[in-house]
Amino acid sequence: MTQPRIAFIGAGNMASSLIGGLRAQGLPADAIRASDPGAEQRARVAAEHGIQVFENNAEAVQGAEVVVLAVKPQVMKGVCQALAPSLSDGQLIVSIAAGITCASLENWLGPRPLVRCMPNTPALLREGVSGLYANARVSAAQKAQAEQLLSAVGLALWLEEERLIDAVTAVSGSGPAYFFLLIEAMTAAGERLGLPRDTAARLTLQTALGAARMAVSSDVDAAELRRRVTSPAGTTEAAIKTFQAGGFEALVEQALDAAAKRSAELAEQLGQ
Ligand SMILES: NC(=O)c1ccc[n+]([C@@H]2O[C@H](COP(=O)([O-])OP(=O)(O)OC[C@H]3O[C@@H](n4cnc5c(N)ncnc54)[C@H](OP(=O)(O)O)[C@@H]3O)[C@@H](O)[C@H]2O)c1
Repeated sequence: MTQPRIAFIGAGNMASSLIGGLRAQGLPADAIRASDPGAEQRARVAAEHGIQVFENNAEAVQGAEVVVLAVKPQVMKGVCQALAPSLSDGQLIVSIAAGITCASLENWLGPRPLVRCMPNTPALLREGVSGLYANARVSAAQKAQAEQLLSAVGLALWLEEERLIDAVTAVSGSGPAYFFLLIEAMTAAGERLGLPRDTAARLTLQTALGAARMAVSSDVDAAELRRRVTSPAGTTEAAIKTFQAGGFEALVEQALDAAAKRSAELAEQLGQ
């Protein structure tokens, strides 16, 4: 694979994680640049990754093959409108901003090859997962470049339709918090059963990690793994039946519906 020159607009947490991931994959520091109005952020990414940094976004994109928009959604419109005259034809634009549609980006930047991504917070530990959507102007080589970029911080999965980004937001974008909620609830329940809080927390966390690792490495699905650990009339069955009697699956469905709906509403607001 060729090593594209990548410019990051915004040098915050997510940009820094992506840059760290790319460097760990072997991309040389001189193939990466970043711009940010914050002197502290610039100094931090320059020191951490040895890359060139700029105060001015227009300077950072000169000669770059890939431009990664890594600013907060709320400032994206202004950033794009100011940057548009400095972009050259054929540059791939990758946006990682939540809730900013390709239509909004095209309104602000003009017609361009665009990849819209929805990463999640574990990307900060390179354990993320992202949904990616490419518009029709993106070439196969550019798709490979975008995939290489997001793969640097976890799993990258392509979507055929942009509207599915709302579903990705509901499943994996907001998903870490659902697991945190379950961890909180299990820790509290363990404590009520008499365990010291720290012990309850460590038992819960290691169980979450172990279960996730088992599910990821298994060749059967989660339902089958669950069946295998649920003996008739046993302790696990007693708990699972209680979850199901309380409408667990329906509640999860409603929660994800609410997240997807909110994602679509935010995209509508942010695009104005
Ligand atoms: N963090 C996550 O887990 C996560 C997950 C999914 C998607 N995302 C998306 O990733 C994007 C970045 O998130 P983040 O968590 O990395 O945010 P962040 O840490 O706040 O990074 C954004 C950076 O952009 C800088 N910035 C502000 N205005 C700018 C401008 N005009 N030109 C260039 N840079 C500018 C900010 O500087 P100041 O701080 O000085 O304003 C900040 O350093 C967001 O759009 C978010 O939706 C993040």
